[in-house]
Parts: sequence; C-alpha cells; structure tokens
Amino acid sequence: MNLKTFIRDIPDFPSKGVVFRDITPLLKDPKAIRYTQEALLDLVGGLKVDKVVGMESRGFFFAPMLAARLEAGFVPVRKPGKLPYNTIQQSYNLEYGSDVLEMHSDAIQKGDRVLVHDDVLATGGTAKATCELIEKMGGEIVQCNFLLELDFLNGKDKLLKFEVNSLLHY
Ligand code: PRP
Ligand code: HPA
Repeated sequence: MNLKTFIRDIPDFPSKGVVFRDITPLLKDPKAIRYTQEALLDLVGGLKVDKVVGMESRGFFFAPMLAARLEAGFVPVRKPGKLPYNTIQQSYNLEYGSDVLEMHSDAIQKGDRVLVHDDVLATGGTAKATCELIEKMGGEIVQCNFLLELDFLNGKDKLLKFEVNSLLHY
C-alpha cells in the first residue's frame, strides 16, 4: 500500500508558506490504519520494549496500539497543566519562543527500555524534550519512531544519540 496517497498536503497551514502534511485521510481508512500499525511495528523489529511514550496529541493515535502489541505500557507526554499527578517538566525551543512538556513523575522506572512514538518529526524539539524527560527518569531510549519525517527540517540532528526510524519521508 502506498501510504503517501493517504497524506493530504494543506498549503499555508498553520501559517503562510508551510505545507502541512495532514494524516486524517489515513486515519479515516480502516485498511490504511491497519497497514500503518503493522508497518510501525515492523520498524520496531525485535526490540524488547517496556514503555511506549507518545506525545500529545497526535502521538496518541498510534502509541497505545504499539504499546499493546509490544506488551509494553503506554505513557503520555502532555502540554503543561493537563496531567493530574506529580509531573516533571522539560522546556524546548519553538521557532519563536519556547514551550514545556510534562510527564508523570512515576511514569518511567529506572532501566525501562523506552520506545518514543509521534506522528511527525519536524524540527525535533518535541522529540528531544521527550527524550530528556525519559532520561531524567533513568529510562533507556531504544528507538524514536515516527509516522512521517520532514527531512528538510533536520530533526534527526537533535536526536543523534538515538536510533530514529520513520515510515515516510518528505
Ligand atoms: C506536532 C507533531 C509533533 C510536533 C513535531 O504537534 O504532532 O508532536 O509537532 O514538531 P517538532 O519536531 O518541530 O517539535 P503539535 O505541537 O502541532 O501538537 P498536536 O499534536 O497537538 O497537533
Ligand atoms: N504536518 C503535520 N504535523 C506537523 C507538521 C506538518 O507538516 N509540521 C509540524 N508538525
């Protein structure tokens, strides 16, 4: 299946000059969902994983499914003020300004083998901050796994320490 046929280009979203890669046509098609699940699992290969960490909000589409199939737990990383229990925080740079991501302070055990999953790797700020949260808690990142990667933004350069695997490249 050519998954790129299920990704829609939206010019000038969310701001002028940006071509947004919209995955909702893929999410609307049951065969494409199924194919994506299996292909993301193939990227993980035989790695042993204890926790899958997914980032709000589009990282939540596939991360819990990956966790269940890998017999691992799912851990959400969220924008500030959304998680109800004690959290640890990590700030990261945006194109203009900065933002913060949070994770529950008991979400990762020291020595946990962690798979990081998000829908898109763009500049890499979100994934890098997430990896920093996991490492602060003593987790070992075994792979960063994305549905699609915007190669021209060089997000991989922020994740040089880690194995990075993406299903689709733009
Ligand atoms: C998007 C995407 C990634 C992030 C990638 O999320 O889902 O999480 O941006 O960008 P980066 O590599 O430059 O950090 P967004 O912040 O738009 O939030 P959403 O998933 O809630 O729409
Ligand atoms: N598509 C989807 N999500 C994104 C994009 C994009 O082009 N850039 C940053 N997050």
